[in-house]
Amino acid sequence: MNQKIGILDSGIGGTTILKEIKKLLPTEDYIYYADGKNNPYGEKTPEEIYKIVEEIVKFLIQERNCKLIVIACNTATTRCMKKLKEHYPEIHFVGTVPAIKVACDNNYKHTLVLATPSTIDSERTKELIRDNKKDNQEIMLISCEGLANAIETHNQEKINSILQQVKEKIGKTPIDSIVLGCTHYPLIKEQINSFFPDVPLLDGSLGVAKEVRRQLEKHNLLNKKGNGNVEYIDSKE
Ligand code: DGL
Repeated sequence: MNQKIGILDSGIGGTTILKEIKKLLPTEDYIYYADGKNNPYGEKTPEEIYKIVEEIVKFLIQERNCKLIVIACNTATTRCMKKLKEHYPEIHFVGTVPAIKVACDNNYKHTLVLATPSTIDSERTKELIRDNKKDNQEIMLISCEGLANAIETHNQEKINSILQQVKEKIGKTPIDSIVLGCTHYPLIKEQINSFFPDVPLLDGSLGVAKEVRRQLEKHNLLNKKGNGNVEYIDSKE
């Protein structure tokens, strides 16, 4: 099935997901839609986010005939996935949510979740905590306004000042794992680790890649003849 896999994000963040999917599925071809024009999603209303994301989904389906759409963005997934699946029941979607399940399954006791304001405030994030956290585990949520945009625009000074604020907010609270709940954040793993040395950083990219493979297998949509080509589309151009 040589149709492409469509992947979208509000810019460069979803490339962290694309990289992982390509490792598992090197004979697929891809379209990566970077919606940098509308970055940041995480500081928009849920209605605004849905409208923007639906337009891109429609483009990837109707104009590009993608066989599966990866929402490589925690904000768009936590805010839009339920509605997208309702509106487009015939389309195969795979989303990205903060790796709270991974942290809980690995028995971390003091997990910090960093994500955009919209992801932190979403019902889906509350649901992930409800479904996975055990009584002896604590989860602290911090919304990092401006961080995804600072990463998108390579603003190192802003990145450092936001991470410094996060560190101050945590104070003396013990932290044994950090969930990177925005696909932009793995791009600055080194900086995050310089503020939080030796704390494991968790993200959902491997889980997303496995889910993409599972869906393609299940629906008989695997492509064995592609060569990992990626067509990049930048909404700013
Ligand atoms: N990379 C996205 C996420 O995973 C969105 C960041 C943004 O545009 O605010 O949440």
